Amino acid sequence: MLDLLVHKATLPDGRSNMSVAVQDGRITDVAPGLQAPATETVDAQGLLLSPPFVDAHFHMDATLSYGLPRVNASGTLLEGIALWGELKPHLTQEALVERALAYCDWAVARGLLAIRSHVDICDPRLLAVEALLEVKRRVAPYLDLQLVAFPQDGVLRDPQAMDKLQRALTMGVDVVGGIPHFERTMADGALSVKLLCELAAAQGKLVDMHCDESDDPLSRHIETLAFETQRLGLQGRVTGSHCTSMHSMDNYYVSKLLPLIAEAGVSIISNPLINITLQGRHDSYPKRRGMTRVPELLAHGVTVAFGHDCVMDPWYSLGSADMLEVASMGLHVAQMTSQAAMRQCFEAVTTSPAKILHLDGYGIEKGCNADFVLLQAQDPIEAIRLRATRLQVFRSGKRVAQSPAATASLHLPGRPQTTSLMHSGR
Ligand code: FE2
Repeated sequence: MLDLLVHKATLPDGRSNMSVAVQDGRITDVAPGLQAPATETVDAQGLLLSPPFVDAHFHMDATLSYGLPRVNASGTLLEGIALWGELKPHLTQEALVERALAYCDWAVARGLLAIRSHVDICDPRLLAVEALLEVKRRVAPYLDLQLVAFPQDGVLRDPQAMDKLQRALTMGVDVVGGIPHFERTMADGALSVKLLCELAAAQGKLVDMHCDESDDPLSRHIETLAFETQRLGLQGRVTGSHCTSMHSMDNYYVSKLLPLIAEAGVSIISNPLINITLQGRHDSYPKRRGMTRVPELLAHGVTVAFGHDCVMDPWYSLGSADMLEVASMGLHVAQMTSQAAMRQCFEAVTTSPAKILHLDGYGIEKGCNADFVLLQAQDPIEAIRLRATRLQVFRSGKRVAQSPAATASLHLPGRPQTTSLMHSGR
């Protein structure tokens, strides 16, 4: 007897009328039209069954703190960092845990079941580290939370940061972070990349650095990150986040840089919602788009994910844990409008970040974890277009969230009585 049988599902790769069999929290079979007794049966009615959304770049220690102690007036990254510095001494563990848990509730409701969150270690109390490790334990049954030791004030600029970062890793933080563009000089930025990669190599940790989150075309720390990745044999274990300066770089230089990133096996995370609002603030017109070169990176075979980065914090006043909103913004800013590119945008919030996080058992395949989301859409493109309702969310074969279908009643002469905005004419 199966625990769960989902049938008549469409999968993201286009296979339709698929059944997914679940036993003991794992997928035991994926095939068309399976018949087997099951404790629970779900009729997907031809809708899209996707593996859960994954956010590869988030700041859970700052989330839902919007307006504390004040709002970012300039809208810049640097004022956001200063604002966070004002807030830090007033943080309490209880408030941090409560806000993070509230955000995880939103995430589960949105079918977002794995998050990589940076946690600021530039605080002698390491309060946020303790709080997020507690949150990680508490949400583990329903959400994978991976933590990055993030030296917000610069690992060299803050003289105690390396020590605090090491303490955070010892306490159980998973990944080594960095912020080379915030160090005082280009040379210090490059040195910080080298030191942090060496630390990660020595301790067998993954690396995810905020890298070149700037409009300065000469901010080239991603080059150092790729070089150090190769030098230390860290291929497949290193990620550069944001990388917005690449938008403004000289094209000839980028033609050299992209193959280096690809050869080094460095992944890139772009955060379209945040960087389209933070970047270009010193421009008049034309104003640059604050996003790295996503289609070009993908064309070179680089793994690229879209991250949410911020929700209601010193850097960004909006957001709701909706990775389809993130994918939609990425699609628009990068002009990824072909059928293939729109599907890549869906992958950038599902399979690609799962790869970056090294998630085990991710996917709708035999032997994978029984984690999936039934969306009110017929395919990944429609899911992005509609930011589709998450009808049902499953974790280890158990339902952890559900939402009513989005439909509107119409009161129009000679027209149907309802519409869901799904396009039936295909
Ligand atoms: Fe970030």
